[in-house]
Amino acid sequence: MPDIESLLKERRSFKPSADFSRQANWNKRTTSEYRKLGEKNPTKFWAKMAKENVDWFKPWTKVLDWKPPFAKWFVGAKTNVSYNCLDRHLEGPNAWRKNKAAIIWEGEPGDTRTITYAELHKDVCRFANVLKSQGIKKGDRVCLYMPMVPELAIAMLACTRIGAPHSIVFGGFSAEALSDRINDAQAKLVVTADGGYRKGAAFGLKEMVDAAVAKSPCVETVVVVARTNQDVEMKSGRDLWWHELMADASTNCPPAKLDAEHPLFILYTSGTTGNPKGILHTTGGYLTHVATTFKAIFDIKDDDVYWCTADIGWITGHSYVVYGPLANGATTLMYEGTPTEPGPDRWWSLIEKWGVSIFYTAPTAIRTFIRLGDEHPKSHDLSSLRLLGSVGEPINPEAWMWYHRVIGGKRCPIVDTWWQTETGGIMISPLPGAIDTKPGSATKPFPGIHANIFDEEGNATTGEAGGFLVLTHPWPGMLRGIWGDKKRFKETYWGKYDNTYFAGDGAHRDKSGYFWIIGRIDDVMNVSGHRIGTMEVESALVSSTDVAEAAVVGRPDEITGTAIVAFVSPKATTTADDALVARLKKHVTKEIGAIARPTEIRFTNALPKTRSGKIMRRLLRDIASGRDVAGDTSTLEDFSVLAKLRESEED
Ligand code: WT7
Repeated sequence: MPDIESLLKERRSFKPSADFSRQANWNKRTTSEYRKLGEKNPTKFWAKMAKENVDWFKPWTKVLDWKPPFAKWFVGAKTNVSYNCLDRHLEGPNAWRKNKAAIIWEGEPGDTRTITYAELHKDVCRFANVLKSQGIKKGDRVCLYMPMVPELAIAMLACTRIGAPHSIVFGGFSAEALSDRINDAQAKLVVTADGGYRKGAAFGLKEMVDAAVAKSPCVETVVVVARTNQDVEMKSGRDLWWHELMADASTNCPPAKLDAEHPLFILYTSGTTGNPKGILHTTGGYLTHVATTFKAIFDIKDDDVYWCTADIGWITGHSYVVYGPLANGATTLMYEGTPTEPGPDRWWSLIEKWGVSIFYTAPTAIRTFIRLGDEHPKSHDLSSLRLLGSVGEPINPEAWMWYHRVIGGKRCPIVDTWWQTETGGIMISPLPGAIDTKPGSATKPFPGIHANIFDEEGNATTGEAGGFLVLTHPWPGMLRGIWGDKKRFKETYWGKYDNTYFAGDGAHRDKSGYFWIIGRIDDVMNVSGHRIGTMEVESALVSSTDVAEAAVVGRPDEITGTAIVAFVSPKATTTADDALVARLKKHVTKEIGAIARPTEIRFTNALPKTRSGKIMRRLLRDIASGRDVAGDTSTLEDFSVLAKLRESEED
């Protein structure tokens, strides 16, 4: 986590070039107009954006119905997301886009596919008809557990076409995690693949689905994309091949006219407890938010080739690989594999090969590439790039400078975009033609977004201030709830302050009104730009028969931002040795997925606790970041003395 003192000493500032500003979708004048309108009347601003950037079958009767914490946007209006992402690019003034590439896809082995808007439309209609033929009706949940292949985007759009909310589960999650998510959403159908390619080899997905569905009786059908052609078991009566179903499906499927508040998707994210939250997004508001921010912040033009490196399994992929770009008729690049396969220059070779002009990635990737050496990007022609973006965690100023210099050739503005799974779309970000950027700052809230900083006592601040990042007015892409858990929704986001959304991040605002996001202030770790709850990893650890008690904390890590450190007290009958470390790491991988595997496991006879029984996390965090241990089991912590010393202080 960057230290706010050093961040605030950051004096460097970068103006967009006159050339960039001149051609920007939102120049200084429009931006300042929109800022004023958004400040004074956010609903009017968003209504204007909804008219400009989204096509509606039926207009709304009311822009916003706000009964805190429940919001309805564009009340009474009807639209369809797949219509906005596809059909409207095939007819009317934009009909020429029918032969434009919607998706350029490259697999890790180097195979490629380019899918035009007309072709994508046909495939989406086909798969929507497949879903219908399998009994999926409006409102039924469909789980997508897939590698980064075009079929994932097709399946998403097909769901939106018929109003079946999708729940995408990142392909790196384990069978256990998948089953939990399927059950929570009560999904009837799962779309998966035999496997995908990563790190130069095929991995399997279908076997994970088989294990998950064994514990998920709600699933009636499993549709399988043949990606790797590895052997998989197909259960008759349940499992069907994608290509066989598609071969017989009609390309005629009119888009359902859906209510603006019809559920669009559920996406699970970590919180401070062991159970992931099913974040619910709905149709009209979400679409308005992502279509508008994509156009303004990524400055999209019809001749751009846009690449966001996120996996579609995360919110960044939902909003800015698929929905935002396609709603704008853009060409979006999808890459299946690992950044460094077959060599450390794969990403840069992709930029050169496809002429990528807008590139959006995460600080953890940037730091990895800094370490790998400048020679790799320098061996490729990156002159097609004109705009860069960053998302997922605070970007440290030195990584920003490297990105600016080595990747952007000092000519590309950088948009550092702050947002969350819950916000649906970008909330705080530079508008690249209209604002000076400072390395490490996401600059200012997007027009129509009311962000503020509250102090420890819950008072709103003005001017230069530090504290908790909050949102004081509803916005169209906001989450509408946690699937099946109203109480948790209210408590988590709206319980701290009245009518105000609590983001869980610490932030600082400087004299010029720029926001500097510091990072999570709750028990949620940001590992490589992805949220993992400490409790989630703890529950996984204690579910092992070897563990009596566990406490998990994050410690700063140069590449991943945060490394997971687990303090474990083994059961009396268990030997604390390297074999146990290996066993526990494997166990967490099985329970959640490799992304949650602790970097370090340290054993202790007892965890330091306050008299009331609360684990003293602050102490554990200090210990975890204070010193490096050579071997995983080289220290057996003895917390008894420390615990006694700190007891009164922590109580
Ligand atoms: C958390 C949300 C939606 C983005 C992908 C992660 C951190 C995100 C930034 C940024 C500083 C950032 C915050 C936030 N975060 N972007 N530009 N600067 N911090 O989505 O998994 O929902 O995590 O990521 O801590 O709360 P997510």
